[in-house]
Amino acid sequence: MSQQPPRAFPKGEIKVLLLESIHATAHELFATEGFQVESVPGALSEDELCARVGKFDLIGIRSKTRLTARVLEAGKNLLGVGAFCIGTNQIDLETANRLGIPVFNSPFSNTRSVAELVISEIVALSRHLGDRSREIHEGKWRKTAAGSFEVRGKTVGIIGYGHIGSQVGVLAENMGMRVVSYDIRTTLPMGNNRAVGSLDELFDEADFVTLHVPETPETRMMIGKAELAAMKKGACLLNLSRGSVVDIAALADALKAKHIGGAAIDVYPEEPEGNTDDFKTPLQGLPNVILTPHIGGSTLEAQANIGREVGTSLIRLTNAGATTGAVNFPQIELPPKRETHRVLNVHKNVPGVLSDINKIVSEKSANIMGQVLSTDPNIGYLIMDLDKEVAGDVNTAIAALPASIKTRILY
Ligand code: NAI
Repeated sequence: MSQQPPRAFPKGEIKVLLLESIHATAHELFATEGFQVESVPGALSEDELCARVGKFDLIGIRSKTRLTARVLEAGKNLLGVGAFCIGTNQIDLETANRLGIPVFNSPFSNTRSVAELVISEIVALSRHLGDRSREIHEGKWRKTAAGSFEVRGKTVGIIGYGHIGSQVGVLAENMGMRVVSYDIRTTLPMGNNRAVGSLDELFDEADFVTLHVPETPETRMMIGKAELAAMKKGACLLNLSRGSVVDIAALADALKAKHIGGAAIDVYPEEPEGNTDDFKTPLQGLPNVILTPHIGGSTLEAQANIGREVGTSLIRLTNAGATTGAVNFPQIELPPKRETHRVLNVHKNVPGVLSDINKIVSEKSANIMGQVLSTDPNIGYLIMDLDKEVAGDVNTAIAALPASIKTRILY
């Protein structure tokens, strides 16, 4: 791996490439910092990216741009990558790590959007809104109160009481619902929400079961035939988490058998890459089933939050070396100290690097005013605040170490 020379960074020289129409909130943040921003409305191909990425310090993408090993290697000056979205599968994270490039995303910026949709769907399922609306669209007037209920006093069972689950609990309680939750972690219930010790306890009580777990080996098909049978007769199931969590065929059977009274499904075991007229699921055409195309988190507010959150992460990385929230990198930060210069060094995690760095510090008679180091199996990341007189020399000497990957200094 070729080593990068040490660099210093006047803000006005920082160059940012933003692809895929990233929200204006990010542009505004970078402009305030004085960074130079170039933006492209769509995604670029691998070849186009390789040709352009070399002059940029930061790159921001959404889900359609693929940052392959070739692109990352062509990004000789890249300090960091912003994935202005939730997922990071489109980025070769391992290569980025090896090259000393932290990648940031925004996993929780659409929490509220999902929680609001869940609440609206609980009401919609209670009133068979999907069916009544479709009937009128088809020219049929079917006024009836049969099978329609208020949600007040009913019980929501939340599986996965994390960011989204706990928000759903707060909103549901505000509508007069009772809330029980089940999580593998010990969680602090909000308001009068109540944690239960097992899924069976939750199924015994819940009129609505809503899933907010991540995709893991344990959550794969966590709701199948047996779990659906354990739910109360007429209870509804909502899945706005991940498609792998529910056995869709078993759900279709339970709905046809009228054991399950309705369902709201936003995520599927297999989802199309782009918009298409040709999507099939066994749930189509079943009564009181609301089907949405993975839009739980898709709101303009969420896009604005993502722009702010990822933009801020990239600015904090550039200005202070902070890697908190990075998905592929040791996460450290250090409050800035006056009267110091800051050396930032990413190195291969091999024996002897730290003693080499300490040797340099002692040879240059540098006084360390603040230091933090963290490692993962491949790399170590060091932030070190030194007295101004010697920081530049220390930076140059550390950058020359054979194990150094990226080194820079902040004046
Ligand atoms: P989170 O990480 O804050 O919460 C997940 C919770 O699930 C944690 O408290 C965790 O302990 C718990 N959990 C993990 N395994 C479990 C198990 N086996 N049984 C019970 N609890 C378990 O995640 P967040 O942000 O609340 O997201 C939840 C889900 O929503 C994720 O799958 C995410 O991908 C999905 N999501 C869907 C969106 C959509 O557009 N439909 C948008 C945003 C997130």
